[in-house]
Amino acid sequence: MKNVLILGATSDMAQAIAKKYAAEGWSLTLAAIEPELLASIASDLRVRGDVTVDTKTFDATDFENHRAFYESLETRPDAVIAVFGYMSDQEKVRTDIADIRRTIDINFTGMATMLSVIADDFEKRGRGAIAAISSVAGDRGRQSNYIYGSAKAGLTAFLSGLRNRLAKKGVHVMTVKPGFARTKMTENMELPEALTASPEQIADAVFKGLEKKRNVVYTLWMWRYIMLIIRHIPEFIFKKMGM
Ligand SMILES: NC(=O)c1ccc[n+]([C@@H]2O[C@H](COP(=O)([O-])OP(=O)(O)OC[C@H]3O[C@@H](n4cnc5c(N)ncnc54)[C@H](OP(=O)(O)O)[C@@H]3O)[C@@H](O)[C@H]2O)c1
Repeated sequence: MKNVLILGATSDMAQAIAKKYAAEGWSLTLAAIEPELLASIASDLRVRGDVTVDTKTFDATDFENHRAFYESLETRPDAVIAVFGYMSDQEKVRTDIADIRRTIDINFTGMATMLSVIADDFEKRGRGAIAAISSVAGDRGRQSNYIYGSAKAGLTAFLSGLRNRLAKKGVHVMTVKPGFARTKMTENMELPEALTASPEQIADAVFKGLEKKRNVVYTLWMWRYIMLIIRHIPEFIFKKMGM
């Protein structure tokens, strides 16, 4: 039975991904910062069906212990899906040094350190799949969200380089860019219905994307074209648009 390690497993998106993988017959290793919530999510999954679920406490910002965390896993995973992330209020984050650092530490540094450890193991084994949730916010810096967006841009570039490094080593790396998603992170935001994915839609896209070895997945598909247009707007016009 194949095993998937889900990092940031208490997130709404990750819970849908865990259900999808369980339904497809995979065993699960769920890792998250909040052990009590994690334990209740794991027992809920066990009650729903015939699935093996291990849990591990994981802090994305505990960089120095990422190797020890990985080596302590009971099962070496066949696939890893890194879902954890952090988005603060942009008005607050842009003037709060600790919050700027937290945004970059969780969305970029924690991803880069943890996935580097995993990449080394997968490279040695000559197989494995890695997916990480980045964001369309990383496709172009916007005044409304550039701290979070720049951390996600760093993550997108990291994943692109990692994908190229591991391409000839039997290891696949996939970048996932949800547009808007209906989760705890966006619960106070008004999101346009047609451009907003459910966690279940994202879970399906992640599963199918890894099966088909996609490099970059936009969920929903129209975001690829929206961001293509946004990336090509000349800077002198973009400055006036107030996005
Ligand atoms: N929702 C959207 O519209 C949207 C769009 C594009 C991309 N994304 C990305 O999608 C991913 C999942 O987010 P979501 O929408 O499902 O929101 P969410 O439910 O708020 O998930 C974020 C998760 O990251 C965890 N986390 C935060 N700090 C952590 C740390 N130091 N170590 C380990 N885990 C940590 C949180 O745990 P706690 O709650 O216990 O702190 C939470 O489970 C994130 O990477 C997010 O940036 C979301």
